Amino acid sequence: MSLLPILKYPDLRLTKKAAVVTEFNDELKQLAADMAETMYKAPGVGLAATQIDRHIRLIVIDVSEEKNELLVLVNPEVIEKSEETKVCEEGCLSLPGIFDKVERASQVKIRAQNLEGKSFEIDCDGLLAVCVQHEMDHLEGKVFVDHLSQLKKTRILHKIKKQRLEKAKEEKAATNPS
Ligand code: NI
Repeated sequence: MSLLPILKYPDLRLTKKAAVVTEFNDELKQLAADMAETMYKAPGVGLAATQIDRHIRLIVIDVSEEKNELLVLVNPEVIEKSEETKVCEEGCLSLPGIFDKVERASQVKIRAQNLEGKSFEIDCDGLLAVCVQHEMDHLEGKVFVDHLSQLKKTRILHKIKKQRLEKAKEEKAATNPS
């Protein structure tokens, strides 16, 4: 098992569209296991392969309190979507420290494959519905801030730049104590 580096917004690799998984081999299982470890360690409730620079349709999610209900979705598709929507505050491992409200369908029905290639369906509501839609966006090259207004996005980009400058300064101060 190994921890994988997570791409940070606005890295352009986060805008790549992921390809359909066709081979259900040991490499895929290992990747899913590494993604799960990376997600739990972060900690986060979901991670899409796109975020670790692997552009295939693979997602790991665990919205349980105990962190013992890992859900692996390969080639997920939304097959039903409620008209009712809900606004929820979202965050993302690719945008640490950034949170904002996004409106999404409150229920979705997903068809996906497991790591053996077997097809299954799952009804999602609550946090799981939010998380599944958020992670599936990543596979399309979208992050949650793409749902926000241009003005909000610009503000977020400024905030990220500032965070990075401060972090770089702190690191410099730590290596050059005066
Ligand atoms: Ni995300």
